[in-house]
Amino acid sequence: MHFVAMNSRAVNSNVGLNCYRENIDEMECEKMALLQIDHIKKSFGELEVLKDISMKVEEGEVVSILGPSGSGKSTLLRCATLLETMDDGTLIYDGKTAAESVDGRAVYASKQQLGEIKNTYGLVFQNFNLFPHYTVQKNVTDAPIHVQKRSRAEVEKKAEQLLKKVGLWEKKNAYPYQLSGGQQQRVAIARALAMEPKLLFFDEPTSALDPEITAGILKVLKQLAMEKMTMVIVTHEIDFARKVSGKVVFMDGGLIVEQGRPEDVIDHPDNERTRMFLQKLEKQ
Ligand SMILES: Nc1ncnc2c1ncn2[C@@H]1O[C@H](COP(=O)(O)OP(=O)(O)O)[C@@H](O)[C@H]1O
Ligand SMILES: [Mg+2]
Repeated sequence: MHFVAMNSRAVNSNVGLNCYRENIDEMECEKMALLQIDHIKKSFGELEVLKDISMKVEEGEVVSILGPSGSGKSTLLRCATLLETMDDGTLIYDGKTAAESVDGRAVYASKQQLGEIKNTYGLVFQNFNLFPHYTVQKNVTDAPIHVQKRSRAEVEKKAEQLLKKVGLWEKKNAYPYQLSGGQQQRVAIARALAMEPKLLFFDEPTSALDPEITAGILKVLKQLAMEKMTMVIVTHEIDFARKVSGKVVFMDGGLIVEQGRPEDVIDHPDNERTRMFLQKLEKQ
C-alpha cells in the first residue's frame, strides 16, 4: 500500500464540534460524526467498483449496509479501514483526517497519523481470520499487548471479561481449529473489542454460518448495540437490520442508491433497485 504524506496543517484541522452562532443567545452545535466518508472512488483497473460514496456514522449509531453481491460493500469497508487505498475521496475518523481529496485524488496522512487513526476502529470479517497457531486467549490479548503496548495484567483481565461476555471463557486454551464457526466468530468479536475501538465494522459476520448459529452471533451484536457500541454492519439479515440499526444504507453498482431509517429503506423503499433486492431476499 502506498501512502502519500500530506501537510500537517490539513491533518487534525477538524475540531470536535462544528458550532455556529445563529444569534447571540442561541448557539447550535452540530456533533462531529465519528466517521465521515466523502466522495470515495475506487477502481480495480478498468472496473469502477466505488463510484462516489458518501456517508456518516455518528457515535453510538448502528449502520447496516445492504446490497447485492458485487455492489462494492466489502471494497467500501476495506477502503474505510485502510486495507485498500482509494483513488479519490476524504476519510475522517473522530475529527482526524486519514485521507483527503486533493486535485481529484486521495492524499493520505502520514504513517504515524494513520497508525493512531487505526486505533479508532476494528474490523470483523466473514471468515473470522483468527491466528490458527494462537490459543483463543492469545488471539484476544496479543495485539493489545504487543501493538497497543498495554499492560498484560490489564489486557488479560479485559480478555476474561470479553470471553465471558461471548460465552467462551472455558475455551480460552483451545485453538481455532477446535472451535465451531460460530465460536470462532465470537472469538473474533472479542478480539476486536479487546482493542477498545470506538467503532466496529463487520463484513457479513454471519454469512458463513448456519441459521441457528447465526442467531447467537446476532444476539451478541444486539447486545453491543444496546451498549451503544458504534457499528457498521454489512449484512443480508434484514430482520436484524430493521430491529437493530438506526440507519440502513442500500448499495448497488458502486453507489449508495438509498439510505435512511430502516422503516423507510426496508419497509417503504423509494428506489426500484432496493425493492427488487428486498423481494429477492424474501423469496430465499
Ligand atoms: N482486489 C480486487 N481486484 C479486482 N477486482 C476486485 C477486487 N476486489 C473486489 N473486486 C471486484 O469489485 C467488485 C465489488 O466487490 P466487493 O466489494 O467484494 O462487493 P460485495 O462485497 O458487495 O460483494 C466485484 O466485481 C469484485 O469482483
Ligand atoms: Mg463482500
